[in-house]
Amino acid sequence: MTTKLIDIIAGARPNFMKIAPIIRAIKAREATGGPLRYRLIHTGQHYDAKMSGDFFTQLGIPQPDVNLEVGSGTQAEQTGGIMTRYEKLLLEKRSDLCLVVGDVTSTMACAIAAQKLCVKVAHVEAGIRSGDWTMPEEINRMVTDSITNWFFTTSEVANENLRRSGVPDKAIFFVGNTMIDTLLSNMERLKQPPFWGELGLEAGKYFVVTLHRPANVDAGDTFSQLLKAIGDTTRGEKVVFPVHPRTAKTLRDVGAVPNNLLLVEPQPYLEFNYLVKHAKAVITDSGGITEETTVMGVPCMTLRNSTERPETVTMGTNELLGIDPKALKPALDRLFAGQWKRGSIPPLWDGHTSERIVKALESVLGA
Ligand code: UD1
Repeated sequence: MTTKLIDIIAGARPNFMKIAPIIRAIKAREATGGPLRYRLIHTGQHYDAKMSGDFFTQLGIPQPDVNLEVGSGTQAEQTGGIMTRYEKLLLEKRSDLCLVVGDVTSTMACAIAAQKLCVKVAHVEAGIRSGDWTMPEEINRMVTDSITNWFFTTSEVANENLRRSGVPDKAIFFVGNTMIDTLLSNMERLKQPPFWGELGLEAGKYFVVTLHRPANVDAGDTFSQLLKAIGDTTRGEKVVFPVHPRTAKTLRDVGAVPNNLLLVEPQPYLEFNYLVKHAKAVITDSGGITEETTVMGVPCMTLRNSTERPETVTMGTNELLGIDPKALKPALDRLFAGQWKRGSIPPLWDGHTSERIVKALESVLGA
């Protein structure tokens, strides 16, 4: 048996729940003589306790071996900073594989730095596409997949996207969803947030809202119309709104928000998913949350024109409303009338994706 060193890259909040179960699966195999070793690299794209540290603690992710500490910046500044620092690390000590997850800036930056040094790249959550080039994440997905060696996918649609772009079948591993591994393994640990009683929340009688996409939150006018529409259409029910740091900046200029919107800080993983699980519905512009609501069977309304996760709409509980605030009323009327679809869970979102990934990695690395 030859041991192989894998760099596991994590940079921003939605990465952390995706890497946690992969690390656990590698360690479990190592304990029984498995050949993979890993080096955990945090790029520092997200750095607050609320956006990063809390997730490590709650999900039992080991301390990173290296922190590239890139911090905030424009898209190019972050990309350049991460590439420069990761390249330096690889030149000091090469790894056998760079494993990237999701679609954040750190994903693309590390894939480029690795592949240019002829270190092979594996991409978890490969092949998903929104078709919307105004989203930085879509550029990150396309660039990453164009230089990936092994593709781990969450859906048949992703497989088809990859095949259409010329990726051979033997490089595609349809394994399921590591984010759902994390959700299922933590379902019994979900925690009521400390403000539950104080805000008078009751299961099934409040909404959860998250918004952080530049198209929705960067311009004060658009954002304030959206908030007003949410306030008007939720019929006075409580709306818990954990505010992302990007959103907080615009919120300062917006002034008053509707009375039933309850602003809270970004929530740790266990508290956030507790809120989602017991919500009447979720209104969001996130991608990952639409997967979690699908698995938990919670109605979800997405304020975007497109999604890279169509199975959450065709199979799950999600609906794409677009970004016109007028779309909220008819959707909420249907929800209040008890007419929201029930949905089903997409294939292989079963809690065992990370084990399948580790098995495939051992095989492709010839370990
Ligand atoms: C990033 C990801 C997005 C993901 C989101 C989840 C990219 C292109 N986008 O977007 O896919 O859905 O994270 O959170 O990678 N900030 C803090 N504290 C932090 C981190 C960021 O205050 O710990 C501030 C930054 O200074 C910046 C803003 O939040 O002003 C946005 O952060 P950034 O990493 O640029 O992108 P996100 O919008 O978070």
